[in-house]
Amino acid sequence: MCQWAFIQYSSQNLHHRGTCGGVAMHLVWDLLFLITVMLNYACILGLRASGRLSLPVRRFVAAPVTRMCSTDTHENLAHLKASIEVAGSVVRELKAAAADKDEVKAAVDALLVLKAELSALDGTPVDVRSKTNKKKASKASATASEPSEEDGVCPRMEDLVNLCKRKGFIFPSSEIYSPFSGFFDYGPLGTELKNNIRQAWWREFVQSREDVVGLDSSIISSPAIWRASGHVDGFSDPMVDCKESKLRYRADQVFWAKLEQQKEGGSAVYVSVMEADDMQATAQAAAEKKAKEAGFIGPFKPLSALKDLTEAADTDEYARIPSPATGQEGGLTAPREFNLMFQTSVGAVEGGSSVAYLRPETAQGIFTNFANVQRTARMKVPFGIAQVGKAFRNEITPRNYIFRSREFEQMEIEYFVSDKEGEWEEHYKRWLEDSWSWLLRIGLREDMLFRDVKSGGLAHYAKACTDITFRFPFGTQELMGVAARGNYDLTVHANGSGEKLDYFDQAEERRYLPHVIEPSIGLDRLLLALLTSAYHVEDVPAAKGGTEKRTVLALHPQMAPVKVAVFPLVNNKAELTDKARALFSTLQKRYSCEFDTSGAIGRRYRRADEIGTPYCITVDFCSLDDDTVTVRDRDSMEQVRMAISDVPAFLSKKIDGV
Ligand code: GAP
Repeated sequence: MCQWAFIQYSSQNLHHRGTCGGVAMHLVWDLLFLITVMLNYACILGLRASGRLSLPVRRFVAAPVTRMCSTDTHENLAHLKASIEVAGSVVRELKAAAADKDEVKAAVDALLVLKAELSALDGTPVDVRSKTNKKKASKASATASEPSEEDGVCPRMEDLVNLCKRKGFIFPSSEIYSPFSGFFDYGPLGTELKNNIRQAWWREFVQSREDVVGLDSSIISSPAIWRASGHVDGFSDPMVDCKESKLRYRADQVFWAKLEQQKEGGSAVYVSVMEADDMQATAQAAAEKKAKEAGFIGPFKPLSALKDLTEAADTDEYARIPSPATGQEGGLTAPREFNLMFQTSVGAVEGGSSVAYLRPETAQGIFTNFANVQRTARMKVPFGIAQVGKAFRNEITPRNYIFRSREFEQMEIEYFVSDKEGEWEEHYKRWLEDSWSWLLRIGLREDMLFRDVKSGGLAHYAKACTDITFRFPFGTQELMGVAARGNYDLTVHANGSGEKLDYFDQAEERRYLPHVIEPSIGLDRLLLALLTSAYHVEDVPAAKGGTEKRTVLALHPQMAPVKVAVFPLVNNKAELTDKARALFSTLQKRYSCEFDTSGAIGRRYRRADEIGTPYCITVDFCSLDDDTVTVRDRDSMEQVRMAISDVPAFLSKKIDGV
């Protein structure tokens, strides 16, 4: 309690601290942190000696460290990570001492809560399985083509998050205060990368086509739009809470199964697992362990098919499903619908009549402007309207870094086609192919891209939908969707507004509501997929013999945040630095460039490789005599000597392809 009060006090006074105050506060913080950890530790060990660990006590074990870490302090993440370290060592210690299984479980729960909190803050993936379970799961999934820590094919999420933070691609939003989870800030390199992706998409799908035009509609619009589109009533996800840990889950992302003895009237155990590629194996292992611990003897029926929490047959069954956080049966609240739209109010007076929403997708702005754009740009069906912009969803479980966040950017096209029978199919296929080939051209790895053709579960008005999925470090997940939506959207907005949104086809001399094909992709998700495709670590010859590791972001040159780095060989010779600067200034007019003078050339190359800079140019002593420079290729590491006057044409060919 006292600790809680102190924490609130310290956060309120954060801005007023000077340097000395800051250091003192830091020391107090560390001391406090240590005391908390010791208390937890002592608490666990004390209870171990007493041989009992009741539920409320377990909550206490988990709570102080967690609460401490969720307060408004700039040490938030660091303390959370430190707490995880300590909680991990407590678990190891208890296990090594063959402690009572309830005590071990309580310590694991505490660890789990902390890891979940870290995941929500900075995207660090949560994997709370024991080593044995991890091994079993990895054995069981060995036949699947999904990433594993061992295969080295897919980078680890930790490495990507680490690189993004270290190099200034992405930071948790409002990090110096207490960040909300699901919001991120893009640093200098992330901003460049995002701009490059956005521009490439716009160039490809808008500027290089005659049949697609752009739009930039407002983020806040009449709430009538969201009532007509169905978002007010239906844009929700089912959520459940763990009563003990207070962690919140999307009910359709928590899966459960039952392992039942074969004999008539046999007993059964229930397990729950978080949605993951290897959840079948995880559930099987967990169920077998639980049955063994309960003393149930086989034979057992096969593990029941995994279902999500919205599919529990009856309340008795639901009450047996354990919370994924605590393992306690009956620990979850019943699923309830949660609308994902962020509300705000417009105008000086707050109240029902001024309620508005931040748009949860950019698409509706396109539908409501259909007639405006068609008329003013004199577009003829088939044609498309494209929009790039922010969308906001109050996701119940923002997860996996920028993959599922609460504020993100979408790049969407609504492509309007004739309503004639059989017309939409051709366009639908074409958009799927065009999207796929563009994703490959900007650098996504083909072995990581898949198509998931939806056969069931489509909205009643949808004619077809295919997700293009990508093998992210945490599993294969939706990257973009291409959907054939019939004329549903124009119909609801024509009805909702009372305006005519039909199209007059002059060639056919008839009016109709066009059908629509919608390719929609998240910019942030695509950025994560590009980083995943590009990141690798390789062994390269070291200057002093042997090999060393080199981290490379092999981004497509057009995507790379910095296109060229210019280095003077040494930084204490004015002739060299002047010549290098002159070249840098010339190139900067066209490309985003970096001028780097610090450290040995080898170190400068490594820094450039790590952020994906495709070309490094070194100005050396020969350059002073013959106006030549060395151009080094990031991927092959080959260096070629060329005249300074040839550099612009060389880069233009390599980067822009012309
Ligand atoms: N207008 C159609 C639409 O919004 P969606 O499948 O909900 O469809 C389209 O979203 C794309 O937007 C997704 O394929 C994904 O790339 C991206 N997206 C959706 N929710 C997201 C989130 N919470 N965080 C990041 N990207 C998201």
